[in-house]
Amino acid sequence: MPRVGCRELFALTQVIARGQLLRYRGGEGGFTEKFENELREKLDIKHVLAVNSGTSALISALVGAGIGPGDEVLVPAYSWIATATAPLAVGAVPILVDIDESLTIDPEDIKRKITPYTKAIIPVHMLNLVANMDAIMAIAKQHRLIVIEDACQAVGVTYKGRRVGTIGDAGAFSFNQFKNLNAGEGGAILTNDDRIFTRARMYHDVGSFTREHEFEGNEPVFAGVNFRVSELTGAVLHAQLSRLDPFVRRLRKRHKVMYNELSKARKGHVSPHNDLSNAAALSMIFDTPDEAKHFARFTGVEHLIDTGRHLYTNWVPLLTQRTFDERMNPYKWAKRQIDYSADMCRATLDILGRTCRVSLGAQYPLPYMRLRSKMLLNSLK
Ligand SMILES: Cc1ncc(COP(=O)(O)O)c(C=O)c1O
Repeated sequence: MPRVGCRELFALTQVIARGQLLRYRGGEGGFTEKFENELREKLDIKHVLAVNSGTSALISALVGAGIGPGDEVLVPAYSWIATATAPLAVGAVPILVDIDESLTIDPEDIKRKITPYTKAIIPVHMLNLVANMDAIMAIAKQHRLIVIEDACQAVGVTYKGRRVGTIGDAGAFSFNQFKNLNAGEGGAILTNDDRIFTRARMYHDVGSFTREHEFEGNEPVFAGVNFRVSELTGAVLHAQLSRLDPFVRRLRKRHKVMYNELSKARKGHVSPHNDLSNAAALSMIFDTPDEAKHFARFTGVEHLIDTGRHLYTNWVPLLTQRTFDERMNPYKWAKRQIDYSADMCRATLDILGRTCRVSLGAQYPLPYMRLRSKMLLNSLK
């Protein structure tokens, strides 16, 4: 996550001096609009809509794509819970899919989990890793499924030369405190699809019937919510955007150096990566959970099963199928009985139990990270 500093402060000062803290300024573009335009160019995508969180981005993208009651959405069993609860917010139900050793959704398990009611897949690019988009897009094409990429944890990262979030029908970014762009809270929807964009924009702005937008097309107005982003957030994001690519480059450089060392390990091996030549994250997988636990005693190494919150077994609201009002419970609208259990994604539990994430230390000098990887390697001989 980049540090915030003078640039952000200067941008915020300008917004406050203007006294216009709402993003929509009667047609006059502010920082939020500039941010969207510049991000659109950087990502080479037709539409970018800034919203107030990554969760809002996922929900709006699902609304945009027409996912709703009775639909099943495939999500990985390892992610932040918002990936799995976003379908519930639109009346659909999430179906949990195992990950593979790349720590992203397993295309083979996607195939096993498809039913006649499956409408969408949400692959997640976890921890700056990338999902196997070639395989996922091929399956989606064959079964006519929508793909919404959850790129909340991988803003700016590429998969085979394309930015994650721009490969599927739509993508979602998060700009919360822990992400590659940090505005405390924030998010964005990315899409090349005019209809998804129009519907998502309408939904995120209570139907946006008062705005004069260019892309309303023939879409009838429907009721929405308020997921609008503040101009204060837009200003912080605009100030940070030019630092995104240098940040990702730092990760890639450190990956190369650390991969060269850690791939010599005799105990355990570097986890497979779906686009190794552009990798911006690294993890190690071991034969046993004990070996992984032992490796995690080092600073900057994290035993993934212990990070808890990102594991489906801890997604209590989901496992209990409870919603704020029983009459609005999407499991009642599902076309079949949906059952969850703690051991339904055994491969995910097994893989995370044996895997450690190794921090690439973007904030530290490269020679220091080289030394650190040598030290880690010594422990694996
Ligand atoms: C993979 C993933 N999806 C979705 C989200 C939701 O983003 P936000 O916290 O901005 O709502 C997060 C945030 O942590 C995330 O990591």
